[in-house]
Amino acid sequence: MDIQKVGVVGAGQMGNGIAHVFALAGYQVLLNDVNGDSLNKAVATISKNLDRQVRSAKITEGDKIAALSRISTTMSLPDLGQSDLVIEAATEKEAVKNAIFETLKPHLLPHTILSSNTSSISITRLASRTDRPEKFMGFHFMNPVPVMQLVELIRGIATDVATYDTLHSVVKRLGKIAASAEDFPAFIVNRILMPMINEAVYTLYEGVGNVQSIDQSLKLGANHPMGPLELADFIGLDTCLAIMNVLHDGLADTKYRPCPLLTKYVEAGWLGRKTQRGFYDYRGEIPIPTR
Ligand code: CAA
Repeated sequence: MDIQKVGVVGAGQMGNGIAHVFALAGYQVLLNDVNGDSLNKAVATISKNLDRQVRSAKITEGDKIAALSRISTTMSLPDLGQSDLVIEAATEKEAVKNAIFETLKPHLLPHTILSSNTSSISITRLASRTDRPEKFMGFHFMNPVPVMQLVELIRGIATDVATYDTLHSVVKRLGKIAASAEDFPAFIVNRILMPMINEAVYTLYEGVGNVQSIDQSLKLGANHPMGPLELADFIGLDTCLAIMNVLHDGLADTKYRPCPLLTKYVEAGWLGRKTQRGFYDYRGEIPIPTR
């Protein structure tokens, strides 16, 4: 199927990154959010990130202008019904995602493919609540979307081959690489990454190391671009906790129990970079470890 119009639900850090890469690849993008300010902020962020790519000669000024001209915004979810492909990138709560697909249902074209950028929720379960489980897929981008090469493709139990093939060619047109994952809790990337981050928080909780020594160890000792605690702040501690809970509940194994210290940070509202405080305090000139 030829995809031209793409609707993106949610203008947060994933949604704006997804809108960015689709517009740059030539798709018409309609970006939706319940909050008008978030839409304005998302367009400003996209423009700033496109500038970074112009500065490093990855794209031209003309590419940037063309990409921005392909992005429109709306606060009305039904407007996305005319899209060939909808990518839901709203908050990681199953009830919110179900409500979005429910609202879209009466407005969709018969051929519209629905997808979710969920990092861990069952694709089969989300699909079962829609009118088109065979045209529903997990479409999981990594943060920062314009930089990271991978997209995870997750088929639900009912997803048909045509839908998979279509999204696979979309990934190629974006200049990214697809990895297929079966529909089990947290798929591949987060099944492996989150227990590592959670273990780093246990290492901190048990006093084996402090924030700086833990991050330095993985950066310099394992060549990771960011330490696990710095990465947790970058992803969002609420998202990390939500994914650990999905692993713990979905696989019923105590090895996935979220660290109480991770829960404590989330309860404090210290969610990482987006709230300016997490394992580091970002309110000053340079990030300061909070432990
Ligand atoms: N948009 C466009 N370009 C960007 C960008 C953005 N949002 N963020 C960074 N860049 C570009 C920079 O302009 C720079 O480009 P040049 O090299 O051409 O100058 C390049 O990326 C590197 O950036 P920086 O020099 O600013 O910083 P860095 O070298 O420290 O790299 C990083 C930053 C790419 C984020 C790197 O630290 C990294 O790879 N970190 C790990 C990220 C990661 O693991 N992501 C996956 C998280 S898991 C996930 O997303 C799944 C989930 O469901 C939770």
